[in-house]
Amino acid sequence: MSVQAYEVRDDDRRPPTADLLEVVQRGLRLHPKRLPSWLFYDERGSQLFEEICEQPEYYLTRAEIDLLDVHASDIAEVLGEDVRLIEYGSGNAIKTRMLLEQLRAPVCYTPVEISPEPLRQSVQRFGELFPGLAIQPLCADFTKPLRLPVPPRATRRNVLYFPGSTIGNFEAREAIELLRKMRAEAGEGGGLLIGVDLKKDPATIEAAYNDKAGVTAAFTLNMLARINRELGSNFDLDGFRHRAHYNPMAGRIETHIVSLRKQQVKVGKMFVDFDVDEAMQVEYSCKYSQADFAALAAHAGLQVRHVWLDPQGLFSVQYLTRADVAGHWSMRMAANGMVGG
Ligand code: AVJ
Repeated sequence: MSVQAYEVRDDDRRPPTADLLEVVQRGLRLHPKRLPSWLFYDERGSQLFEEICEQPEYYLTRAEIDLLDVHASDIAEVLGEDVRLIEYGSGNAIKTRMLLEQLRAPVCYTPVEISPEPLRQSVQRFGELFPGLAIQPLCADFTKPLRLPVPPRATRRNVLYFPGSTIGNFEAREAIELLRKMRAEAGEGGGLLIGVDLKKDPATIEAAYNDKAGVTAAFTLNMLARINRELGSNFDLDGFRHRAHYNPMAGRIETHIVSLRKQQVKVGKMFVDFDVDEAMQVEYSCKYSQADFAALAAHAGLQVRHVWLDPQGLFSVQYLTRADVAGHWSMRMAANGMVGG
């Protein structure tokens, strides 16, 4: 098998500075002000996110790894042979490795990532870990329609892997839209393997986004540092603070950047006023019960076929396929020797 390793297709590229300025200015004109959470992930932000994952309060990553520890081989059995694994994001070294190690004769691995550097690193890492595996990276924004590369050999099914509960960053309408797009990309006979954080005791959830060491606060405020650096604006990082609250009615963490005083900031040619205690929304992290997520999936024409939980029941990985192909599904399952017992 060939490792089409170092050729990174530049599909939809990372937004140029002009677009970034437009995105930020548009968000700052809204009432209340709102900036998109993907702005967190510059180089420093990605580093800080890795650090968040190591904080004792941030249970999500550990739970998902524990889950894979117990269930990766069962997941691989459900996915079957000759799978093309397409991952939204550039592949957490540990989780994706645990899954790939169990997959039976995967056709190829396609990480989809908007930032070229993390994508290149991931290609190199997985190339070294799995020398026999074809790797076909795609440099693109996974929320946009993707032009997937032609796989190196016949594929039994496309599996779109979306770990980490990143789906939680999307509000219901956007999440459904994204799931619909994934459904189309998986194609007939394909499936979606999604990490979904579960509803639980609000104190546990809230603590995960307010770690004692202050890493999440630094992660949140880094968005302002990034905007300063890339757009030449003048946010005073000491004039703002991180705030993350669990909204139990909506079932989500709502993260804000709060102005500590009345102040004015210049972004491009625009002057932006902040009131004392004014809160700017920067992230939602939605939490789901199993029923919530099944309902969301149904709105996207998908049906949940399997749910795996970590031993503590904090986190889930769910396998979804098209809702309208139940007949096909059971036939395939029978063909794979997975039903009837
Ligand atoms: C990477 C989107 C899953 O929402 O839990 C962690 C990002 N934000 N701490 C999450 C995040 C604050 C994380 N996701």
